[in-house]
Amino acid sequence: MSNIIHVPLGTRAYDVHVGPGLLALSGALIAPLLRRSRVAVITDEAVGALHLDALRAGLAASGIEMTALALPPGEATKCWAQLERTTEWLLEAQVERGDVVIAFGGGVIGDLVGFAAAILRRGVRFVQIPTSLLAQVDSSVGGKTGINSSRGKNLIGAFHQPSLVLADTDILETLKSRDFLAGYGEVVKYGLLGDAAFFDWLEGHAPAMAAGDMAARIYAVSRSVQMKADIVARDETEQGDRALLNLGHTFCHALEAATGYSGRLLHGEGVAIGCALAFELSARLGLCPQETPSRVRAHLKWMNMKVDLSDIEGDLPDADALLALMAQDKKMQEGKLHFVLARNIGEAFVTPDVPREAVLAVLRDALASR
Ligand code: GLY
Repeated sequence: MSNIIHVPLGTRAYDVHVGPGLLALSGALIAPLLRRSRVAVITDEAVGALHLDALRAGLAASGIEMTALALPPGEATKCWAQLERTTEWLLEAQVERGDVVIAFGGGVIGDLVGFAAAILRRGVRFVQIPTSLLAQVDSSVGGKTGINSSRGKNLIGAFHQPSLVLADTDILETLKSRDFLAGYGEVVKYGLLGDAAFFDWLEGHAPAMAAGDMAARIYAVSRSVQMKADIVARDETEQGDRALLNLGHTFCHALEAATGYSGRLLHGEGVAIGCALAFELSARLGLCPQETPSRVRAHLKWMNMKVDLSDIEGDLPDADALLALMAQDKKMQEGKLHFVLARNIGEAFVTPDVPREAVLAVLRDALASR
């Protein structure tokens, strides 16, 4: 019942398996990568408590021993201190250059462990076993790895492709509803940026998917991964098309910074709000039909997702301050804000120089309706 999506990157090519029961098959799928029958697994304490025994059993079924480190859950783990702890632990565990490290968790673990693998002994291979919807459809695929700086998210990192990704859709059943819906923000992003038919499908099937329909989950994760694989294959290091994956992210990063990267706003929630704002900005600039932003918002609201700035608890800074936070974003080039805008659903494009006043007007109106 699982799908295999190939990410065609020459010597760095790999497969992404999507489907139920993959933890039980992990040993059989990982064994061909190994030079000796042991792996080092890094997880977080929450994922480890729920799923580490199942991973251990899946590996042991193919005679693979594992040693594991559990880090604290949460965005704060993507820091220098935990990176140092992880790399020192991997050295202590005598992980050699030919060994394989496993990132077993959500986006935080995938990014941090991928970066640790990129720099350990100048680069060891790693396998992503993403356990959140967000990590399954986005962060585990494409090789972006890194940690946060006090100056912003993901500012320290490297491109380092995994050797294999196992997206076990059974694991999604243990996600809290809020986390599942936050991940759905990234799923809907794929329809909005490049596949109107997928967005149509989501309008019909996403409620069942959120309620647990496994076939719908496998399709939605597989379609998202396929779209990401296609884009990454065209533009591995984000010189062009890969920036499409940042639809909604310029607004999102400013809102995440404004809310202190806290539980007030999860990344995927910020992506959903950011997508709604990006379509609003596109319509105001006369780039997309005036009715399109309402269709985007209606779907997100139907899914009980955060859509408006009023859905974020607590105070937010004013529009000028939010714009200043956008300017911190690493998508700035030569001092200009690069935005992903859209001509319609499924027709996003990157534009290098959006008028500052137009962005401010969208933000002011969004803040005024709080
Ligand atoms: N999450 C955006 C990217 O991987 O490029």
